[in-house]
Amino acid sequence: MAKINDNYLKLPGSYLFSTIAKKVAAYAEANPDKKDEIIRLGIGDVTRPLTPTIIAAMHKAVDEMADEATFRGYAPDLGYEFLRKAIADNDYKARGCEVEADEIFVSDGAKCDSGNIQEIFGTDNKIAVCDPVYPVYVDTNVMAGRAGTYDEKTGTWSDVIYMPCTAENGFAPELPEEKPDLIYLCFPNNPTGATITKDALQKWVDYANSNSCVIIYDAAYEAYISEDNVPHSIYECEGARKCAIELRSFSKNAGFTGVRLGFTVIPKDLTVEGTRLHALWARRHGTKYNGAPYIIQRAGEAVYSESGKAEIRGLVGYYMKNAAYILNGLKDAGFEVSGGVNAPYIWLKAPDGMSSWDFFDYLLNKVQIVGTPGSGFGPSGETYFRLTAFGSYENTVRAVDRLKGL
Ligand code: MLT
Repeated sequence: MAKINDNYLKLPGSYLFSTIAKKVAAYAEANPDKKDEIIRLGIGDVTRPLTPTIIAAMHKAVDEMADEATFRGYAPDLGYEFLRKAIADNDYKARGCEVEADEIFVSDGAKCDSGNIQEIFGTDNKIAVCDPVYPVYVDTNVMAGRAGTYDEKTGTWSDVIYMPCTAENGFAPELPEEKPDLIYLCFPNNPTGATITKDALQKWVDYANSNSCVIIYDAAYEAYISEDNVPHSIYECEGARKCAIELRSFSKNAGFTGVRLGFTVIPKDLTVEGTRLHALWARRHGTKYNGAPYIIQRAGEAVYSESGKAEIRGLVGYYMKNAAYILNGLKDAGFEVSGGVNAPYIWLKAPDGMSSWDFFDYLLNKVQIVGTPGSGFGPSGETYFRLTAFGSYENTVRAVDRLKGL
């Protein structure tokens, strides 16, 4: 008799962004006259088109696929050498980080990698997550049977260590009192937009090395860092090669949310119980994945060309102008607000003690603005709300004007 993985039955509701999409669709259907007024600043999806250098690289690669002499079939499962080398040189060596091309695993995005990486760890590992947190880390550990039971009242899992990120601690997690095995960190942070200094991150690396923990470091928003003392990679910290896995994405910097490309770095020095995690992930990747498409990997390579880099700076600058507009506009309007300086997310407190979901409904109904309720990211997100800077500038200005008029 077939049996299901009943860990899936423990998951409450649907995935956060699916729930939001359904609510917005229902509102649009019930209010056809307001449908075109809706401004979506909920999911962190980009709105600017791919840049000319990326498009030219993709066109060239498409033509290569049309010619027998240059046609490519299956990609190497860990990624093409040209892309892995470009990543190692530009994202790591240029910043003084010791990461080799063969420590980079190219994939179809950081969401899949951040969900799949837990597979190489035993189910008896205890995870620690920031609270609020990107829901994929927790949900995938629930699916694997690593999270225990869900308490609806507190919105927490019995076997997960939560590290509250609140206004009191500047939305920066403190080292946990209970010792975890796996620590998920994301900086610049989704959802709060907060970040971490290099000294503070070094403390996490030291903690992980002294307690035999592995840090899964999500640096998907690295391109948005504007301040000098903020590390772009965990490998800027001493000893990180022995305890940290890093996840990166081309979605938020180069606008690849619909193109799909990312990568995971696993240094060869990183061992658990005498086994190299690099070997386990290579085995997993080789077995379950056939490589990101050639055309997309050529597009990724173009991100590191001189013109590609300049265009990507332009994209990030565009969204950060939106972030500044939202941050300053909401401050002026009297909201308690943070983030938006090293990240494309703005984190605000719902007014008048409103719950996150009440504020979501209020904004959708009253001013047709879609954001993300903070409680969807964890219990410490309750009464908070996230807006993204990924809209068009025009819509961002319209949205802020509407929020100011509330
Ligand atoms: C978000 O809105 O948190 C992100 O878009 C989610 C993601 O990148 O998968």
